[in-house]
Amino acid sequence: MPGAVIVHHHTRYKTYPGELTGIVVFSCLIASVAGCIFGYDIGLTSGLTSSEPYMVKFFPSIYEEMKKQVVVNQYCKFDSQILTLFCSSLFLSATVAAFFAGPMTRSFGRKWTLFSAASAYVAGACIGGVSVNFPMLLTGRILVGAGVGISIQAAPLYISEMAPAQQRGMLNIMFQLMITVGILTANMTNYLGSKVPGGWGWRIAVAFGAIPAAVIALGALAIPDTPTSLIERGDTATARKTLLQIRGVGDVREEFDDLSTASEDAKAVESPWRELFFGGKYKPQLTFALLIPFFQQLTGINVIMFYAPVLFKTVGFKQNATLVSSVITGLVNVFSTFVAVVTADKVGRRALFLQGGTQMIISQILVGTFIGLQFGMSGTGDISEQYAMCIVLFVCVYVAGFAWSWGPMGWLIPSEIYPLAVRNAAMSITAAVNMFFTAFIGQIFLTLLCHLRFGLFYFFGAWVLLMTLFIAMLLPETKNVPVEEMAHVWKKHWFWRKFVIDTSNDARSAEMRKRIALEMS
Ligand code: BGC
Repeated sequence: MPGAVIVHHHTRYKTYPGELTGIVVFSCLIASVAGCIFGYDIGLTSGLTSSEPYMVKFFPSIYEEMKKQVVVNQYCKFDSQILTLFCSSLFLSATVAAFFAGPMTRSFGRKWTLFSAASAYVAGACIGGVSVNFPMLLTGRILVGAGVGISIQAAPLYISEMAPAQQRGMLNIMFQLMITVGILTANMTNYLGSKVPGGWGWRIAVAFGAIPAAVIALGALAIPDTPTSLIERGDTATARKTLLQIRGVGDVREEFDDLSTASEDAKAVESPWRELFFGGKYKPQLTFALLIPFFQQLTGINVIMFYAPVLFKTVGFKQNATLVSSVITGLVNVFSTFVAVVTADKVGRRALFLQGGTQMIISQILVGTFIGLQFGMSGTGDISEQYAMCIVLFVCVYVAGFAWSWGPMGWLIPSEIYPLAVRNAAMSITAAVNMFFTAFIGQIFLTLLCHLRFGLFYFFGAWVLLMTLFIAMLLPETKNVPVEEMAHVWKKHWFWRKFVIDTSNDARSAEMRKRIALEMS
């Protein structure tokens, strides 16, 4: 039976026969656990450096300095570039590793790449957990970073290639959901770790990440690789068998043929990197590969994820209350992600981006204004309880907006818009840019807060305004469009159509007809 046709923004896209099968759900769930190890490290980063035994053991002189510092200005906190650099080392290692992920997913497939990344993470978490000196600690952190960098490239690709087009958004956002679960879990292990008598609780917190990583490594052994990846590596027989199995129907010829055509096109490309940057054919994809992760980090979300305790302390919360606050933002983050899970394939990606973006801008302006009204430019004074509650409330509204827009879309859009010929390379760039700016924002936040003061929130708000306008004008809607059909989306777009060269069969045969007619005349 040939696939049906769906009409979408006056354009007709194919839908392939098949349904959402149990094996697809299971496989995508395993891959999405990669989000969990990534999120866990985001949450762990801030927790570790607030652990006294950890600081005393590995950074004694910085810890001494930190204790001596007298706070006179709420905006200018103790800032050690060395300490933040150590925290960032994980994300810097992930940046480098993400570049290796492209050739890995291309040559060994998505499944084995996930397996290797998870194994590196398990090793890193164990070494980190039993560290007795700084070199061990750093080695652990670099291995964990490599695991994160590689798996966040491979997992979104894996999910988007396994999923039927109609449910791709929902399945892919499971990855973001796992990121939020990872962050929340780390917030809690940080706290529980700090309560362990004897001061070795941080070891449990560091090693704990090995559990989800082991789930990915073992799970990867049980799941199939994606049909696309199998065809890409020449194993068409297994690809056909896998496609039949995962679609749960007797005839997958049409989808299989389209995947094979995509693979033929991909084979013609000698160097995906060169093609992507200099080939001139992939301008929209390259633009989004670079800007989506860059913008996602410029929303300022990780200021909240890394520094919620610092921020809440700034507005006058006591030690335990800061923990409660980061658990609250963590919970809001998890639950708001469900909104995207259930709506992305219905209302579409653009609607979520635009609504979420607007909500973030408004809440950032309000948070900045509340802090400014209370502390002014000097950063001195006390904040009333009502004010502090208002700030926490609007930080939550901001986190919720992110959780159903830039959070999930930051991973979903890249995973679905790249044609196979450049997919591995482009997704590597996306992952690397994301990791680099995660490290960068972490590194400069305290300096920015000290200089921009409450204006920091306006600063990020202005970025969100810019990126929301960018999306409104330049992101085409991709819901329900099969990945292999994505070329049409650019061709129909008012701006991008000027930049894409039409290489579809229709265009090729039209071109040929023209040439034959010319020759005949
Ligand atoms: C981002 C992370 C962020 C997290 C928050 C992810 O999509 O890549 O940087 O910390 O969302 O939930």
